[in-house]
Amino acid sequence: MVSAVIVAAGKGTRMGPNIDKLFLEVAGRPVVAHTWQRFVEADSVHEIVVVVRDGMQSAFAELAEEHGLNKPYRLVIGGAERQDSVWNGLESISPRSEIVAIQDGARPCTSADLINATISAAREMGAAVAAQPVTDTIKESEDGKMVSRTLQRSKLWAVQTPQTFRVEVIRRALTAVRHRGLQVTDDTAACELIGQSVRLVSGIAPNPKVTVPADLAYIELLLRQRK
Ligand code: CTP
Ligand code: MG
Repeated sequence: MVSAVIVAAGKGTRMGPNIDKLFLEVAGRPVVAHTWQRFVEADSVHEIVVVVRDGMQSAFAELAEEHGLNKPYRLVIGGAERQDSVWNGLESISPRSEIVAIQDGARPCTSADLINATISAAREMGAAVAAQPVTDTIKESEDGKMVSRTLQRSKLWAVQTPQTFRVEVIRRALTAVRHRGLQVTDDTAACELIGQSVRLVSGIAPNPKVTVPADLAYIELLLRQRK
């Protein structure tokens, strides 16, 4: 059995005050309705856990109703940091689940094909992440003022979601993170801590995240092109 955990319990501070970025309308539906719909479309996914802020349960239940998101789902309450929300989501997946795909609610362009590809890779390798080669040259700076060194671009990948795992692997990895009191920006970084290798699954289509207002026009265009 395969579960999806969609994390949608953030505050969206970079989008600006008094805006819930996940409920902004793009290409005719709220951002998170697009995201959720992809997991309804992905045949290999059996259940969906959506992690939300306390008080948002009825808004998400109405969203599912209104947009016909008709795959079994559960709503759970998130935590202070993204990794806490992921943890809470993992706690409530079915005990029969072998694979879990973790997805940013704010990433509405993820395709069902990409979801399925990460699931296959995770079955084989234990862990897999949607990723794209970096197109900008990336510099490292110790002080934020001067360049310390230039990284070799051909080796660099920008990672996105889904990040997909054998359930036992991600539980072990996140437990290690919690025991050491660390913070990780993504779930595959937790895997590196326990020596679990992670397969890159390179998507063909762009898969950007809604983070700042300037992201919206591009995402709107991508979603309209896909229809
Ligand atoms: N997220 C979450 N719980 C948190 C923080 C983030 O579920 N405590 C989710 C967000 O809702 C989003 C995804 O993780 O779908 C990626 O996070 P990000 O884009 O950083 O969203 P926010 O944390 O909401 O935005 P910001 O960092 O600008 O406040
Ligand atoms: Mg954030």
